[in-house]
Amino acid sequence: MEDFTFDGTKRLSVNYMKGILQPTVTCDIWDEIWNFQAKPDDLLISTYPKAGTTWTQEIVELIQNEGDVEKSKRAPTHQRFPFLEWKIPSLGSGLEQAHAMPSPRILKTHLPFHLLPPSFLEKNCKIIYVARNPKDNMVSYYHFQRMNKALPDPGTWEEYFETFLAGKVCWGSWHEHVKGWWEAKDKHRILYLFYEDMKKNPKHEVQKLTEFIEKKLDDKVLDKIVHYTSFDVMKQNSMANYSSIPAEIMDHSISPFMRKGAVGDWKKHFTVAQNERFDEDYKKKMADTRLTFHFQF
Ligand code: PPS
Repeated sequence: MEDFTFDGTKRLSVNYMKGILQPTVTCDIWDEIWNFQAKPDDLLISTYPKAGTTWTQEIVELIQNEGDVEKSKRAPTHQRFPFLEWKIPSLGSGLEQAHAMPSPRILKTHLPFHLLPPSFLEKNCKIIYVARNPKDNMVSYYHFQRMNKALPDPGTWEEYFETFLAGKVCWGSWHEHVKGWWEAKDKHRILYLFYEDMKKNPKHEVQKLTEFIEKKLDDKVLDKIVHYTSFDVMKQNSMANYSSIPAEIMDHSISPFMRKGAVGDWKKHFTVAQNERFDEDYKKKMADTRLTFHFQF
């Protein structure tokens, strides 16, 4: 086990685990993660990093709480939703948190489908997967790696562009991730959502989630949930904007966790040449799927 203390300069090391890059601290506890025992009433939120995890967590908890905003403000995101494969030397691990938490639990993972601990499927747990168009996803991940010392330094935007396309980022290739979960969705209890749909018609997606969770909420509560989970309101919510993580780990002055929350922001980052290169690569990697994305409104 790595002896590591964040001091604002050093970053966690990473390593390949089953072919995907992960923080070394995660690789060290992989057997425990793989053998995690899910409970039938666990609700799992799964995403590629930066696809709308925090937003979905907030919506799902408010649905379960029937719109009780104060209850959702009892603790910050990283304490309310155990992040299965995560371990931060000074903050604890998702596994420890999950074991200590009473049911029903809402858990988070970024694992690709083929690395999902088998007990989630054996117990027939409900799983919500959220996907985001890869151009905005890449930009968001780039800025997140700039500000988050628990992940590798992204280098320049030009360097990161290539790293991302090569899938040499933590949790691996975006393309493989979204396709793997897409193929799994009809065989298991998986609700597959898109960030862009949530942005375009949040109430509709909140309704979908409410049905999936098998809750009945009246219209007023649905509107309340949409309001409290809008980008502007969540950005000001210290229990949902990751401001409680020590600045030596997440430095919001470099780039805030709640950064833009927009669709199409990639246009401000991609050069014309990068966009052409991206589209060509995308066409090849997505040729074997019917899954499609909206890159702008
Ligand atoms: S993480 O670290 O993987 O859990 O990050 P994740 O929560 O998946 O993604 C963070 C991005 O989601 C944006 N976000 C939102 N967008 C719209 N509405 C709401 N309410 C919302 N909450 C978070 C957040 O701003 C990050 O995207 P970018 O593009 O960087 O702004």
